[in-house]
Amino acid sequence: MSSKESVGISREEALSLLREYVQNEKTVGHCLASEAIMRALARRFSQDEELWGLSGLLHDLDYEIIGEDMSVHGKKAGEILEAKGCSPTLIEVIAKHNAEGLGLERTTQFEHALACAESITGLIAATALVQPDKKLASVKAKSVAKRMKQNAFARTVSRECVMECEVIGIPIAEFCALGLEAMKTISDDLGL
Ligand SMILES: [Fe+2]
Repeated sequence: MSSKESVGISREEALSLLREYVQNEKTVGHCLASEAIMRALARRFSQDEELWGLSGLLHDLDYEIIGEDMSVHGKKAGEILEAKGCSPTLIEVIAKHNAEGLGLERTTQFEHALACAESITGLIAATALVQPDKKLASVKAKSVAKRMKQNAFARTVSRECVMECEVIGIPIAEFCALGLEAMKTISDDLGL
């Protein structure tokens, strides 16, 4: 099944939509990193890789139009995606990545996956940036796991959300390795 059928949008359309709504390159990088990790998780769980990948790519679509109002983050993205004919599953999982702000609750494997995947990207990127060469290639999974325990490091990263990997059966050490390997595959796009 092509992504157009299962998700309602192709990867190419999704990326141009993201670029239309998101100007900050750091945010675009965060979305690309989330996509890479979601694809790796989909493969691990034998789930729909396009659906999972595009949820990572599009989850912060409305970030620059919500005026920092977290009570609509994810909801506005849903309105845009609905108008584009995207699948209800994609729209729902994107809303649930901000369950905290929207008064919702994450219950499915897919929902927990997006929450932990998008949350660990910041921790991995920050770990790369403290390497002498600032490159992901120099980062070891063990270093990410160690930084995970240092709450003062990359303090905006919600450790609680990252730990949702264990709700879906992936021990944190293993998830640090999976996330790191996934981000390394797109290091040029991330500039890391
Ligand atoms: Fe995000």
